[in-house]
Amino acid sequence: MDNHPCSLCDSNGQCAAPGKAVATQPVSQEDANLTIRPFQPDDQDAVVGFFDQMGGETRAFFNRNDANRTTALRYFSDKPEDIRYFMAEQNGLMVGYVFLFEMNRSVPWLGIAVREEYKGRHIGRKLLAYAEAYAKAQGKGGILLTTHVSNIRGQSLYERCGYERMGMHQSGEVLYLRRW
Ligand SMILES: CC(C)(COP(=O)(O)OP(=O)(O)OC[C@H]1O[C@@H](n2cnc3c(N)ncnc32)[C@H](O)[C@@H]1OP(=O)(O)O)[C@@H](O)C(=O)NCCC(=O)NCCS
Repeated sequence: MDNHPCSLCDSNGQCAAPGKAVATQPVSQEDANLTIRPFQPDDQDAVVGFFDQMGGETRAFFNRNDANRTTALRYFSDKPEDIRYFMAEQNGLMVGYVFLFEMNRSVPWLGIAVREEYKGRHIGRKLLAYAEAYAKAQGKGGILLTTHVSNIRGQSLYERCGYERMGMHQSGEVLYLRRW
């Protein structure tokens, strides 16, 4: 028997508990079909298609040397225990991606990207909120991330969502932390 509503259910009855798909609150007709959920074993074509559509900005800031594509595809091969993968889906299309890695630490790291023509529609915000709810439910104390110094859109998103700019990380990127 499903024990609901729980502390992760919102006023619309949507639940952000681990393993639950979250239909985010519709703000327009276009958003009505937006769902955020964990990867499933038959998602590989959608994930490959998502990486294939990336334009220059996303390749430069998110997928340099295909590093994050390689990480995403590991879900379908060796299923790493310390990484959690989630996608935003709208009308059957993968429109966003967020993942948490080093989940064995008390504060895991986060990576995020939104499909080109879906940027600027607050999907990034919703993906962040989903990942935060998941991390909280897992007993984590916050989320860390880094971003390129010239990634203005990314920095704007993180700062508006309560991430604190901590300075420069040893990678040469800007380090952000959200604690709760
Ligand atoms: C960064 C990214 C994930 C943001 O997702 P998004 O869905 O486009 O962002 P949102 O629509 O949720 O915007 C959230 C906030 O970011 C800011 N923002 C959005 N587009 C912006 C732009 N072009 N310039 C400056 N700020 C911008 C806005 O302040 C917005 O808040 P508001 O509209 O409520 O005021 C997405 O643009 C992306 O995939 N970029 C390329 C990959 C990348 O940089 N990944 C992160 C690497 S660390």
